Amino acid sequence: MCGIVGYVGSQVSSRAQDVVMEGLARLEYRGYDSAGIALVADGAIESRKRSGKLANLISDIGQHPLAASSTAIGHTRWATHGGPTDANAHPHLGGPDGKLALIHNGIIENFHALRTELLEAGVEFASETDTEVVAHLLARAYDGDLTTAMRAVVARLEGAFTLLAVHVDQPGVVVGARRNSPLVVGLGEGENFLGSDVAAFIGYTREAMELEQDQIVTITPDRVEVIGFDGESAKGKTFHVDWDAAAAEKGGHEWFMEKEIHEQPQAVADTLLGRTDETGALVLDELRISEEQLRNVDRITFVACGTAAYAGMVAKYAIERWTRIPVEVALAHEFRYCDPIADERTLVVSISQSGETMDTLMAVKHAHDLGALTVSICNTHGATIPRESDAVLYTHAGPEIAVASTKGFLAQITACYLLGLYLAQLRGESYADDARVVLTELHETPDRIAEVLDRLDRVREIAHFMADTRSVLFLGRHVGYPIALEGALKLKELAYIHAEGFAAGELKHGPIALIEPGQPVFIVVPGPDTPHGLHGKVVSNIQEIRARGARTIVIAQDGDTAVEPFADEVIRVPRTSPMLQPLLTAVPLQVFAMELANAKGLDVDQPRNLAKSVTVE
Ligand code: G6P
Repeated sequence: MCGIVGYVGSQVSSRAQDVVMEGLARLEYRGYDSAGIALVADGAIESRKRSGKLANLISDIGQHPLAASSTAIGHTRWATHGGPTDANAHPHLGGPDGKLALIHNGIIENFHALRTELLEAGVEFASETDTEVVAHLLARAYDGDLTTAMRAVVARLEGAFTLLAVHVDQPGVVVGARRNSPLVVGLGEGENFLGSDVAAFIGYTREAMELEQDQIVTITPDRVEVIGFDGESAKGKTFHVDWDAAAAEKGGHEWFMEKEIHEQPQAVADTLLGRTDETGALVLDELRISEEQLRNVDRITFVACGTAAYAGMVAKYAIERWTRIPVEVALAHEFRYCDPIADERTLVVSISQSGETMDTLMAVKHAHDLGALTVSICNTHGATIPRESDAVLYTHAGPEIAVASTKGFLAQITACYLLGLYLAQLRGESYADDARVVLTELHETPDRIAEVLDRLDRVREIAHFMADTRSVLFLGRHVGYPIALEGALKLKELAYIHAEGFAAGELKHGPIALIEPGQPVFIVVPGPDTPHGLHGKVVSNIQEIRARGARTIVIAQDGDTAVEPFADEVIRVPRTSPMLQPLLTAVPLQVFAMELANAKGLDVDQPRNLAKSVTVE
């Protein structure tokens, strides 16, 4: 939510602008209500900002080129305080003479009080944002050193923020500060970078530095200095980014989402990589909680939002079965407010692709305060949530740019399963054999996902026929239930179509009243060998809705002929054991939503009103 880029180099040229604009293009998935850039050039701030997508800013700069510079900051916005207008776009200038420019990601919770104070002091505001308040505070605190001014100002701020500032009197310096919002440093030669994530500068360097909470960083062309908000000098942790600029490009696909859907076999394979030793035993070396502590766990709570929460719902079925530990799934934004029961025997597992979702971060902090053990399942190295957790299990899906999560989701389920299998192994519970079979099959899953991807022509055709549909229902049972919810979410967020997911067994308790002739319904059918006769029960559900006129689009395993008499369409997935079906059945639903959005001429990668990384509560 809001993307931030900063750059300093030793030459006055067009490079500062090029780096920042390229960074904004890579970060646009974080917010696309407006974009802006500010450069320190010829003893003044040159700032340009436009509401709407980055393309508007690019076209503006094309018509009125910016000056050469060595120092620049840029911002792509997801609006919070103040609508998505030109005036509210960042950067915001501070001081009566506009000698300082500031960009911000997050929310300053006490901005009203600060604004009132500044208004009383005669400050005039050009926008409705909380950010402009900070720009003026910073300009007033400035006395020759931007780092010192930043330290004084952050002490007055409440809320979550990443701030980047430049000042006319200090060309060649960018100062950043972070609390609860992301900021990483890119380490170059004779130049340095700042970004909300490494994608911001991946085209220029793969050497990066993490920052801790409550730190201020000052970059010049040949220096990176970190201090705490308390003024104590600190040392950032450096790391090498193991993917390159090509991984952040579309690679010949029309949309990032399409590319990411096709990367799913690799995402699952990479997430499994190196997790077993030569005897087949699980090794989760990023898990820093002791085995003793894990053996004592008597309750597991997943905390997550959106698609990540559905990964947790899938995992609940598997982990309860394998470990016999009760598992609950809490939406992270509800967790803190339901007076959760958690202590040192509770394992709170957060799932977050970005590792920055504020609701999830706050849930993790609350769990920590209650004394629970916290594990983060995350796709972004060095993000805030894993750093606030006792242990981390990284998914290795690579950068996910499209707002709607796809490969991140499959990698999350995979990582949750690894965690569940590890716990089962530690505890030696009764379903250990079951767990072993799943581990073997997990390694075969990438090939099966690739097979699903090879067979999706019919799904694409169905999506195009259905471009005018106003409502679609999704049914599933057992691990297919969260997949039905995910199918509905994908359709809502991408195609803006009313969609609902239901547990198929719940149908008769109400939702069946929605069925009228022609109503499209997707049904995720469990494999015929799913325990407790669930397959037969779902086939009966299909019959029931078909009898009432529904148009049934059935996702079923190869060889499952029982569904055919009641299906208007059958989408086939390869056979696999029940727990692994979600990794296959999710894929046609992702492609369906993407193609339908495409057919409606919508922006698949950047759906309206959404942002990939939601860093406000
Ligand atoms: C946003 C995105 C969703 C995502 C959710 C959780 O709402 O639009 O696609 O599932 O955040 O994101 P996370 O990064 O925590 O997995």
